[in-house]
Amino acid sequence: MPPLSQRLDEALKGIRAVSSFVPRVGLVLGSGLGAFGDGLDGVVKVPFAEIPHLPTPGVSGHAGALCLGHVAGVPVACLQGRSHSYEGHEADTVVFGVRLLAKLGCGIVLLTNAAGGIRPSFKPGTLMLISDHLNLTGKNPLVGPNEASFGPRFPDMTRAYDRELGALAHEAAREVGVPLMDGVYAAMLGPSYETPAEIHMLRTIGADAVGMSTAYEVIALRHAGVRAAAISCITNLAAGISGSLLNHGEVEETAREARDRFASLLTAWIRRMA
Ligand code: HPA
Repeated sequence: MPPLSQRLDEALKGIRAVSSFVPRVGLVLGSGLGAFGDGLDGVVKVPFAEIPHLPTPGVSGHAGALCLGHVAGVPVACLQGRSHSYEGHEADTVVFGVRLLAKLGCGIVLLTNAAGGIRPSFKPGTLMLISDHLNLTGKNPLVGPNEASFGPRFPDMTRAYDRELGALAHEAAREVGVPLMDGVYAAMLGPSYETPAEIHMLRTIGADAVGMSTAYEVIALRHAGVRAAAISCITNLAAGISGSLLNHGEVEETAREARDRFASLLTAWIRRMA
């Protein structure tokens, strides 16, 4: 495999063959939110398959295109869908898309995901601003030789989730009347959902929600000096919290139901970055 810098150059060239658009804010659209990318003002779409080295997402609910356009006058680039480690990708492959957003010019990247609710007061449909994460996947996208031109060997993660962006998210939530909680996100490898015993452990160690994405991306973004923030849509109660069993259909359906609220929050949030 060619070095990361070469892969990124080739991917950028693939995009530049279609558009010279320079985004300021990057977005990673998780389960159910893909349509937000289609709604960008003056949208230009580049299918992931046409971007060299960018893995194509394999899960239903993840569309697979880079969308370039404006939200409230702010130039944005959306990754419509993402790939995950559980598909068999190395962690550094999973973060190729967010590194590409940085390469395109994004100084800010906002991530969204679907997550299981652990905190007892969370209900399906709750939106949670991630205040911090627990990376419990056993992997890290920065493992391997460090390319110093990208960032330091040992990046600081004390304030991985940008406080100013978090405050703007709360302002936006108040403006559009969408409740927004704060909480800690535990990242698991998946693809099996957790056992009730694992959820008990996660709750004990301080997790409010659990999912299978986002942590690697935030690590890679902080490594690159990009400001990051993330919001989870709680699509289900985590295993053992309610009496019922988990299935991906429920996750997709709740994400769909929350879509309009989530989209109006995102729009108001991005407007604050103008
Ligand atoms: N666990 C892990 N990942 C998830 C869940 C869950 O309960 N819901 C949505 N993504």
